[in-house]
Amino acid sequence: MKKPISRILIINDEKLILKEFIKGLNAAAKSMENPFGISFIGVTTAHEALQSIEEDGDIQAVVVDDRLYTLKSEGKRSHDLQMSALSLVQKITRFRPELNIYILIAQEQADEVVDALFSETVDGYFYREERDYRGIYRILNAQLQDKARTPFYDQLKHYVLMAKDSWHTPGHSSGDSLRDSPWVNDFYEFFGEHVFRADLSVSVPMLDSLMEPTGVIAEAQKIAAKAFGARRTFFATNGTSTANKVIFQTLLAPGEKLLLDRNCHKSVHHGVVLSGAHPVYLDSSVNKKFSVYGPVPKQTLLNAIKEHPDAKALILTNCTYDGLRYDLAPIIQAAHASGIKVIIDEAWYGFARFHPAFRPTAMEAGADYATQSTHKVLSAFSQSSMIHVNDADFNEHLFRENFNMHTSTSPQYSMIASLDIARKQIMLEGYKLLARTLELTTELRMQINSTGVFQVLELADLLPDEVKHDNIQLDPTKVTVDISRCGFTVEELIQELFERYNIQVEKSTFNTLTLLLTIGTTRSKVSRLYDALMRISREGRAPRRLYMTPEIPRFTELKYLPRDAFYCGGELMPLLDEQDKINTSLDGRVCADQITPYPPGIPVLVPGQTITQEVISYLVGMLRSQKHVEAHGIVHDGYLPCLRLLTVAEEKNLKKLVI
Ligand SMILES: Cc1ncc(COP(=O)(O)O)c(C=O)c1O
Repeated sequence: MKKPISRILIINDEKLILKEFIKGLNAAAKSMENPFGISFIGVTTAHEALQSIEEDGDIQAVVVDDRLYTLKSEGKRSHDLQMSALSLVQKITRFRPELNIYILIAQEQADEVVDALFSETVDGYFYREERDYRGIYRILNAQLQDKARTPFYDQLKHYVLMAKDSWHTPGHSSGDSLRDSPWVNDFYEFFGEHVFRADLSVSVPMLDSLMEPTGVIAEAQKIAAKAFGARRTFFATNGTSTANKVIFQTLLAPGEKLLLDRNCHKSVHHGVVLSGAHPVYLDSSVNKKFSVYGPVPKQTLLNAIKEHPDAKALILTNCTYDGLRYDLAPIIQAAHASGIKVIIDEAWYGFARFHPAFRPTAMEAGADYATQSTHKVLSAFSQSSMIHVNDADFNEHLFRENFNMHTSTSPQYSMIASLDIARKQIMLEGYKLLARTLELTTELRMQINSTGVFQVLELADLLPDEVKHDNIQLDPTKVTVDISRCGFTVEELIQELFERYNIQVEKSTFNTLTLLLTIGTTRSKVSRLYDALMRISREGRAPRRLYMTPEIPRFTELKYLPRDAFYCGGELMPLLDEQDKINTSLDGRVCADQITPYPPGIPVLVPGQTITQEVISYLVGMLRSQKHVEAHGIVHDGYLPCLRLLTVAEEKNLKKLVI
């Protein structure tokens, strides 16, 4: 098993003292227990210090000498000293917030120096003159040990190794029902013994309860909150799909207003139905050339906040599936000024806190809630997500009631353990792994462009015109590739990559492929992808005409609350008449379901929304197109594609929405 390496950086401008400290501390590390491979390195200037923490991903903590700048200052020495040490600490924590910072105090000083340093997020201090190398090492090692703790995973492992007899659920009873079966023992062998032994239930009290955590789950969540810069963190085992719904039901009573990007994930739209919220849909920007739906323009958001000061919450997706990132802080500030809570769906951005290239995160930008699919971009099992909370008015009781309403009473414990591990990994080696991912991203982008046929779309190519001046940024780990010159349709290309080159991509539009790089991307995978694209390029096929996905019609009137419309029985009405012509009689009727073509996954209709001629034509065009598009929400009555619509009688009983 690979052993960790950890370096601790000592910053001291007095060379002799630095040398003495490094020697003393390394001797202590050698002579004492050292499970994390701690060693000490030193630099004498702030410049070198910042360079080291940027380049060396194995640095886990920093010890800053408070006399660092004394030699450079003249006149009011203590003031300069205080400010200099402070600004260095601030720079370090801004760059890598996961690092622990300690101050080495040279001598007894005015209280204000220590006070000022302590108002920053420093973890402690040592008096230099004590020369207590073993004591310093012990504390630094203990601090690292604390970060490396995985309370839930440790307890789960411990329980499995205790080998207790199971007289409880699950029925496979630690895999014993499968192990000796001539019929299904291969399932046991395939997944392996520990999958079954660790598949336990709430009957085991020492594993705590996800429904009411007070033990190891509570502890694991507390460490996660600190790591992700939140006041509170909750583990969710039903994905961000459920996390979004839990937050909606906590913040929004029926009829209360929610501002939302129409392009939000479908779980957000389902959350609107479940909570009974009154949604105010905001149209996202769109890049027509590549069918990429981007952020909601900043001005649209600011206007909506102004027009709906009675709104209770705003939800946005950051970053989008294609990697477009909002300039969140001013939007959040505007929402807060109107008393609107901000929820950021960070399903695709759970790693962002651990490398400055991706920050600020939603929490750092001031959001009240962030939901993250830890499983999408970090080392957690599928469906394992986190909810981070920063809301000063957080109603924990209500949150808990809603959380428990959605959570299975039999959560999968390996998922909880994987959240504990994913947090540990990203906290301890996230910076290093993300730096490598960024490096691979740059390499891959260059290699793809060098094929001369495939081209990576950069921010300027992806940005819709409406948001050109909104300070939008691109998460480079989402790589969107223009395939229009390769001579394959997108479906053919995906198949070719899969069948011939064993490559499965993330998603596509009619003329793009999107590749997702994560901390699990390796140089070998990058090489194989490059090789495949190069070979395909060399085939020299003539470019094909590609079917362009029509733009989704703009949002029409929302006549009734989505929840009210959804719970009507409704009636099925065909989109086409007997002559296979567009059924124009649907114009003006109200839909009871959410109709979402995938791709792009944006609802064309939501429950309660009025149907127009344009919407019907769009849906029919989609159904008739040669390109396969999943049409979620369309019902087939025999061969006829139908929509579930409100009946005239049902409409009479519903209250019309006033915007
Ligand atoms: C923006 C967004 N939010 C939420 C989700 C749902 O996440 P999960 O798969 O964890 O339920 C997705 C899934 O694709 C998503 O794209």
